[in-house]
Amino acid sequence: MTRGGLAAKVQETRLWSRLMALAAIGGTAKGGVCRLALTAEDGAARVRLANWATARGFTVSEDAIGNIYVRRKGTDPTLPPVMTGSHLDTQPTGGKFDGVYGVLAGFEVLEALEDAGVQTRRAIEVVGWMNEEGARFQPGCMGSGVFAGAMPLEAMRAVADKTGATVGASIDALPTVGVSRDFGFPVHAYVEAHIEQGPRLEAAGDTIGIVTGIQGARWFAVEITGSEAHAGTTPRAQRKDALMAALDGIQALRAVMTDPDDQVRFTVGRMEVGPGSPNTVPGRVFFTIDFRHPDAATVQRLGDLVAPTLRAAAGPCGIAITETFTGPPVAFDPLVIEAVTDATKALGYKHHALPSGANHDAKFLARVCPTGMIFIPCLGGVSHNEAESATPEDCTAGARVLAETLLALAQ
Ligand code: GLV
Ligand code: MN
Ligand code: MN
Ligand code: MN
Repeated sequence: MTRGGLAAKVQETRLWSRLMALAAIGGTAKGGVCRLALTAEDGAARVRLANWATARGFTVSEDAIGNIYVRRKGTDPTLPPVMTGSHLDTQPTGGKFDGVYGVLAGFEVLEALEDAGVQTRRAIEVVGWMNEEGARFQPGCMGSGVFAGAMPLEAMRAVADKTGATVGASIDALPTVGVSRDFGFPVHAYVEAHIEQGPRLEAAGDTIGIVTGIQGARWFAVEITGSEAHAGTTPRAQRKDALMAALDGIQALRAVMTDPDDQVRFTVGRMEVGPGSPNTVPGRVFFTIDFRHPDAATVQRLGDLVAPTLRAAAGPCGIAITETFTGPPVAFDPLVIEAVTDATKALGYKHHALPSGANHDAKFLARVCPTGMIFIPCLGGVSHNEAESATPEDCTAGARVLAETLLALAQ
């Protein structure tokens, strides 16, 4: 098939209608999506994808950590497959594109191959990685982390959400969507399409981002233990106020977690105060820290300051700090970057190369096979927000680049 021939088979209306069909599963009143990992909504999205896949003759399978795979056969079953995909779960106030776009762009490529009657030597597998977001179960990128051997399967299946429900029990409660499988090595290459989730492509007026790698990240869970006391009577010197200790620690970290070129990303995204009564001094505070930076040495140095800085600020309170995720920066494979670049140029899209600020499953796949990513713009760079938006044209452009890239890699 000539270059661009497969891209021409990518259908904008089909891709868009699938995006909107999945956006309705967990759709919110404000136009966003709440489809937390392994909930009934996530299960329903998986069933929908599996139904589309089997209707088209593709094979569906799932593994012990809840990743779902849609496979289109190659002509040589002895060759390792090419993989693509992303995730079906969302943030609690997530949008219609973060994650699901990469899965459906991959699925659209399988359909385009069918429509074109093109056989590839290698099988192509579209994967929905379980719990990329890390909103319900920490850490995120759990399905790809286990797949890549970076997280232990049994320990991850034992992770519980706020209500005590475990990953393992939640996977077992999902509707079955395909045959059970092993993780499935080796993998020839992995390419993930995603909205940029930042403002750079839009600002440059470019349609395609050729992703060079992913910045480093360290996540922490912090538990501060004080002592409950009467708010009206307890003098300051006698208080062990867990919330004041948390605030002092976070304030001290804000001073440390800065840099002149605004590359440090420091977020306290979740905080629980116990017992949560207006007139009781808080005896317990739990909060999370998400810290990221593109440079490995800075990830190490600033990340290492988290525990001592919080401890120094804890005063009379007890403090327990757990590092729940450690991910050094990742550089993508030059051959995959080149394949994406060639496809983008052949299709004539305006593009530039950029690193990813957000985490992606590609970060773990990069440990086990040559990996790369394709970004498309999103409105205002807004993501992890119900207002997240991308145009049908850009979604199609990304799927076309993905199609030509996968075709080249699967021959
Ligand atoms: C998930 O979306 C992340 O980048 O943390
Ligand atoms: Mn995502
Ligand atoms: Mn996300
Ligand atoms: Mn993400």
